[in-house]
Amino acid sequence: MKEIIQKDFEIYFGSDVLEKLAEILINKEYSKVFVLVDNNTKNYCWPILSPYLVNFQLIEIESGENHKNLHNAEKIWTRLQQFQADKHAVIINLGGGVISDLGGFVAATYKRGIDFINIPTTLLGMVDASIGGKLGIDLHALKNAVGVIKNPKYIFIDPIFLNTLPVNERRNGLAEVCKHALIDDKSLFEKLLHIEEKENLDALLFQSIKIKVKIVKKDPFEKDLRKSLNFGHTVGHAIETFSLKNDSNPLKHGEAIAIGMICEAYMSAAIQGLTSSELKSICKYFLNRFPKYKGKLPENELIEYMRNDKKNEEGFINFTLLKKIGKAKINCHCHDELIIKSLAFYKNL
Ligand code: GLY
Repeated sequence: MKEIIQKDFEIYFGSDVLEKLAEILINKEYSKVFVLVDNNTKNYCWPILSPYLVNFQLIEIESGENHKNLHNAEKIWTRLQQFQADKHAVIINLGGGVISDLGGFVAATYKRGIDFINIPTTLLGMVDASIGGKLGIDLHALKNAVGVIKNPKYIFIDPIFLNTLPVNERRNGLAEVCKHALIDDKSLFEKLLHIEEKENLDALLFQSIKIKVKIVKKDPFEKDLRKSLNFGHTVGHAIETFSLKNDSNPLKHGEAIAIGMICEAYMSAAIQGLTSSELKSICKYFLNRFPKYKGKLPENELIEYMRNDKKNEEGFINFTLLKKIGKAKINCHCHDELIIKSLAFYKNL
């Protein structure tokens, strides 16, 4: 088992972390243990976790981003109250980003804050959503419009849960692993270029997790350094929003972000000094792993979504770009023409 121990949270990684969870639950003497699941994690992941727990109350919601809302937050608060959860209760979030965002938000606000523990079950959850304490719910169509930043007490990452996922979920999370490499660690990117689809990822995942922890520890409230995690996300979020509105089988977050990273790498080459050979290897990485998006990429509509992005400051669309592979530059501004050219670049690849 590998561990990362911080002042306010601890991460355990490996195939034996659930024993560690059981030990911690006994020692901490929580008054009540609640486990939040969705219908998928109840079927596929709960049978793996349940042998390690003794007294608990299961709370189930439906799976999917459209359930990360006030209605479900209220439902969970009410269940906590019905079961007389006091300030010494704990919530274990068993699932991907929706479960850890929603369950964490509920825990951080119930009785002004109770402990919560994340057990991410998706690759995206393991390397990104479960770490860094961004919690919240969507407000109508606005993603993460209401929320707080508070770290879980513990994060237990057992790669066994990855076996419960379809292939495209694994790919989805790999986009964020690659983002961590591109903004911070060239050697990780080089390793990613050479791994096979089915290869064991444990060492690379841990390397990626360490990058996320290093960044959120230095800048938990996204004043500067944490913005580097937004590489690929300005264009990527716009494409994700467009695809959600228009496609019967919309792009997953990682797929949209992969396109965003290609476009923003193009912009980086135009104005931040990323070399053309670096741009070429970034494109090669994503094009070899993600199918080319067949939908339209209407420039004006996408730029409009970018203008409404909550990361913007002082009226400018805010980009994180790359000076080189392994080095990000935050707070970059680009002319609309360059954004349009970057979309055309992706279309013509
Ligand atoms: N997912 C980006 C962040 O945690 O800041």
